[in-house]
Amino acid sequence: MNTEDVTKILTAVTYPGIERDIVSLKLIEDIKIENNKLAIKLSISNEVAYEQIEKQIHELLKSSFDSTEVTFISKKTKSTSYGSSAKPNNRAPYAKNIIAVTSGKGGVGKSTVSVNLSVSLAQKGYRVGLLDADVYGPNTPRMLGVESEKMQWNSENKIIPSENYGIKIMSVGLTTPQSDTPLVWRSSVAVSALIQFLEDVAWGELDFLVIDMPPGTGDIQLTMAQELPITSSVIVTTPQMISTDDVSRAVMMFKDIGVPIGGIVENMSYFIAPDTGVKYDIFGTGGGEMIAAKYDIPLLGSIPLTMAIRETSDAGKPAVATDDMVQKGYYQTITNNLLSQMGIL
Ligand SMILES: Nc1ncnc2c1ncn2[C@@H]1O[C@H](COP(=O)(O)OP(=O)(O)OP(=O)(O)O)[C@@H](O)[C@H]1O
Ligand SMILES: [Mg+2]
Repeated sequence: MNTEDVTKILTAVTYPGIERDIVSLKLIEDIKIENNKLAIKLSISNEVAYEQIEKQIHELLKSSFDSTEVTFISKKTKSTSYGSSAKPNNRAPYAKNIIAVTSGKGGVGKSTVSVNLSVSLAQKGYRVGLLDADVYGPNTPRMLGVESEKMQWNSENKIIPSENYGIKIMSVGLTTPQSDTPLVWRSSVAVSALIQFLEDVAWGELDFLVIDMPPGTGDIQLTMAQELPITSSVIVTTPQMISTDDVSRAVMMFKDIGVPIGGIVENMSYFIAPDTGVKYDIFGTGGGEMIAAKYDIPLLGSIPLTMAIRETSDAGKPAVATDDMVQKGYYQTITNNLLSQMGIL
């Protein structure tokens, strides 16, 4: 058995929590075979994932060699760039920067952050496109007031993105006759729809392509990471998530698949009573800072739970597009911090 055979066998080893094998994720640093002894070196930063991967490797290969040794080098110590082992394609060469807004969990405010970040960037004069990658629950069209628009094509047969508040928008929500049409797609179909949105939409030149990711750490997130050189990702959490493993799972997965992390946004951090203006720390304080310190990634900002944010997004007008300086400020701070983190501001 040679290293090629071993590599082939290793395609059956999956990364825990996501259905991708360690070969396609490019986590194998080295395979050595000497005197029927096998040594595999992995490049991985999540020790829990490593243990489970090691177990799978032993199971698959124990009968083929006298001994199998699996070691790992932590990506954290390798370099500041986590992108060294992943070499993504570039399906969006028209975009100077690609920002993925993501989280381990649903309903934490990814879409709200994506929409406000995009509009805020456009208000600074950048050319911005927002791709709603949430094919199962696309809600950015409603948040941007374009949900009743129909898809149109230009003379070159490219899809014309919707536009509002100075940004271009593409979403599966714009392709269905009614915005609440349920989408029941196999994940391969969902992935090809997104690739089409990257390649067949007349985005024009963009300074920023912002991608509103679906919840979780599944196929779509991985495909995006493999098909796009993501410049920076923004991880949205709520204080409740801080005490769970969801944030760390998302952070670790991104590090392992080579996506740079721009920082964390803590959403619904505290509640401000609309009548009295009194601030209530419903979930305690400091969670965002704690998680940022733990993983050595910046905290880009905290957003309180406010009636205004929910009402404006339901009404199709993002908070940053209103005159409410307080609500706007939360997102502007995050935008500025992200830009400076990316070395742009
Ligand atoms: N800071 C906030 N204050 C009040 N309401 C908020 C805030 N952030 C988000 N919301 C509301 O919470 C709901 C969920 O937010 P959003 O759709 O942005 O989350 P999501 O992470 O994109 O969800 P999904 O995982 O379903 O895509 C929406 O109704 C939104 O208006
Ligand atoms: Mg969403």
